[in-house]
Amino acid sequence: MCGIVGYVGPQQATPILIAGLRRLEYRGYDSAGIAVVGPRGTQVLRCQGKLAGLEAMIAREPPEGTLGIGHTRWATHGRPSEANAHPHKAGGVSVIHNGIIENYLPLRARLQAAGRKFASETDTEIVAHLIDEALLAGAPSLVEALRVALRQVHGAYALVAISEKHPGQIVAAKNASPLVVGLGQGETFLASDVPAMLEHTREVIFLDEGDVVAVTAEGATLSDLDGKPLARPVRTITWDAAQAEKGGYPHFMLKEIFEQPRAIADTLRGRLLLEAHDADLEGFEIDPRGLRRVLLLACGTSYHAGLIGKFLIEGAARIPCEVDLASEFRYRDPVVGPEDLVIVISQSGETADTLAAVKEARARGARVLAISNVVDSAIPRASNGVLYTHAGPEIGVASTKCFTAQLAALALIAIHMGRRSGQLGPEAATKLVGELALTPTKMTEALEGLGDLKQLAREYRYARDFLFIGRGTNYPIALEGALKLKEISYIHAEGYAAGEMKHGPIALIDDGVPVVVLAPRGPGYEKVLSNLAEVRARNGHIIGIGTQGDAQLAGLCDRVLSIPDAPAALQPFLTVLPLQLMSYAIAVAKGNDVDQPRNLAKSVTVE
Ligand code: AGP
Repeated sequence: MCGIVGYVGPQQATPILIAGLRRLEYRGYDSAGIAVVGPRGTQVLRCQGKLAGLEAMIAREPPEGTLGIGHTRWATHGRPSEANAHPHKAGGVSVIHNGIIENYLPLRARLQAAGRKFASETDTEIVAHLIDEALLAGAPSLVEALRVALRQVHGAYALVAISEKHPGQIVAAKNASPLVVGLGQGETFLASDVPAMLEHTREVIFLDEGDVVAVTAEGATLSDLDGKPLARPVRTITWDAAQAEKGGYPHFMLKEIFEQPRAIADTLRGRLLLEAHDADLEGFEIDPRGLRRVLLLACGTSYHAGLIGKFLIEGAARIPCEVDLASEFRYRDPVVGPEDLVIVISQSGETADTLAAVKEARARGARVLAISNVVDSAIPRASNGVLYTHAGPEIGVASTKCFTAQLAALALIAIHMGRRSGQLGPEAATKLVGELALTPTKMTEALEGLGDLKQLAREYRYARDFLFIGRGTNYPIALEGALKLKEISYIHAEGYAAGEMKHGPIALIDDGVPVVVLAPRGPGYEKVLSNLAEVRARNGHIIGIGTQGDAQLAGLCDRVLSIPDAPAALQPFLTVLPLQLMSYAIAVAKGNDVDQPRNLAKSVTVE
């Protein structure tokens, strides 16, 4: 997830671009850059790190010109560095991009074979070359050259391009990454999100998938990939800037909950190989045949993802998996060695305990694969390989979209290992790959069906304790549901394996203790219903999480929150959603600071 801005009009572009990027810094902040076209040609300034570094460069050497583009980067391909910062240039063309070009490697190879030189490791730079190539081959306009480039790329993009030879215009295209046009008086704006332009205009056009736009100071001309003219409605924005940054949501956490289908789709994009029924781990090959076991290490919510990873990997590859808290592993003289694969999971990539566990495992000869959301952070750097989740920056301290994106990464690893171990046959692989591909759509359906849970929150906000129970893949979700509630609503909560209730925790049940029972249809369903009956017999209040249309469950619960049907291995993507929304709604009902709960930090870089 990156931030994009563009401006053309009568004013100096640089201050407008910088103010816009400042508003988009929440989308990414590992490097930033601008390209401004003026009397001195195109001036490109780029800087690694936060925007302040770019501002210092601009103060020394202010670019002049009334047309420009700017970018704040959240690295996906290529580490954060000045060379990888956008804009990328080829000939007279400068390009900025938010998204992932899936087929950039073959395109890069073709362009290199044609004699083109690359200055970065990014997927974006190929687009600048493709546009430049199209212009040199005689494309009649900049927008047509963009179309020629777009016909060659697959993936997600919001792309914006300018060319020295085509002054006074900016061209752009959107597919699966957001892009908005802002219409001012004699000036026009482009941005990934409306906060970047709210100071200047409230009249905007939200581009749709496949839209291509040519922008001048006078306005915007929209067309499709074939050049057919398009009309899109002009909308008037009524949000203030702070609301707009959160996409109109009152908190980042809620925005991030609703971003999950997109985060999963982006994490799977280009890696889930539908036709080959396989998963590409971007160069990290795992040969399960020589492995003794897989060890999954993490803390907090990422540890819960690891617990689900065990089900996924053991289910697909039949390789034994162990899951350990990184904070425990590092201090217990662990039995680990070259015959083990260690998978460490960390959203931030900076958690001190997880980093120490990586060092411990590597010192004992294990190969370590990291799953992280932050490119080039400490844990990926210390590991042998990395599979990045593409959730975009997570601002809310309580992790939501990074958790489900971690599950997507683990599912990819499971498929990859299952195929190579020979344990996941073509038929089962086709089924799993197909179901995984459907998951983002099912998550959207679940989120739309659940509503805001305000009424439920009003009923339960004064509860002193909460229990969460589940079996199989939904046991870790019970732990995660309890953690979410503790973190932001400050209500004491415990997660248990449903079968464990009778071994102790059932003593806690009395009149009105809310018990969240994870009971989607699938293996263990009948058993969970028996555990539910035990709670009911002791007057617990039951909130059931079940499959849509399950009348039997509805008859046994005080409340039911429904999700679409899914195979057991992939149910956690869905069952976690009502728990995230419920914790959020209760925290709001209690008036708590949802995005920055007391005593917690987003990255725990201390022991
Ligand atoms: C999750 O909501 C928490 N904020 C916390 O448990 C977190 O998952 C844990 O600190 C691990 O963080 P990491 O994924 O960045 O390593």
